[in-house]
Amino acid sequence: MFSPLPALSPRLEAVLAAAGRCGVLADICADHALVALAAVARGTAMLAIAVESRSAPLLLASRNLALSRLSGRVLLVRGSGLAPVRRADVIVIAGVGGDLAAQLLDAGGAGGGFANRVVVQPNRHSREVRSWARGAGFHVVEERAVAEGGQLHLVLSFERRGGDDPAYGARPDQAELLLGPLLLARGAAADPASRLFLRRELPRLRALSERRPDLACAAAVLEELFGG
Ligand SMILES: C[S@@+](CC[C@H](N)C(=O)[O-])C[C@H]1O[C@@H](n2cnc3c(N)ncnc32)[C@H](O)[C@@H]1O
Repeated sequence: MFSPLPALSPRLEAVLAAAGRCGVLADICADHALVALAAVARGTAMLAIAVESRSAPLLLASRNLALSRLSGRVLLVRGSGLAPVRRADVIVIAGVGGDLAAQLLDAGGAGGGFANRVVVQPNRHSREVRSWARGAGFHVVEERAVAEGGQLHLVLSFERRGGDDPAYGARPDQAELLLGPLLLARGAAADPASRLFLRRELPRLRALSERRPDLACAAAVLEELFGG
């Protein structure tokens, strides 16, 4: 089907797939707003709100919105994080640090509030996102890496289920929070990009653990999975 919008990259396709079907999708730190627009254009969301804090990306987003002819169903808002969002079934935060994503989710009250599903694609600091989710009663339901432009991007999906997350507990807590309980559970049997992601973490963690002994257990878990 012809679309006047730029095609989604593999990273953003994975983010959109992780969001699933919903009534209202909130695309936070939206930049070009392509996730919000594609969700509504493809019918995986009925409505979407795209929140962006800076004017230059908002201009780009409004051009994309005009091209899409979806202006009745996609709302572009200038604002910070979840502050402008009153209701959403799914929150997406992609392409930013996990520390910022966790901060925005926390400040926006997503844990106590509205959404049932949260998808985060952190550029780094995924531990902060997992820690937020555990504290807020969201369970990790999917974790995978996606290859794009020579880089590997993590896509994490959480659902509000309350209570302790049963994904945790098979390995030391620090290792699971840092590397992902589902990624570690799959280990060498994970899809190629996720496996490569874990493998690439090993030399990095080994080097870091000389200064950060708290990271040594995560390196040891990877050595056990992939061999030293
Ligand atoms: C690197 S872009 C990612 C865009 C898109 N989500 C993606 O994954 O391709 C990050 C965007 O987040 C915006 N941003 C940063 N902090 C924000 C905040 N607190 N609230 C809303 N947008 C924010 C930036 O202006 C920037 O456009």
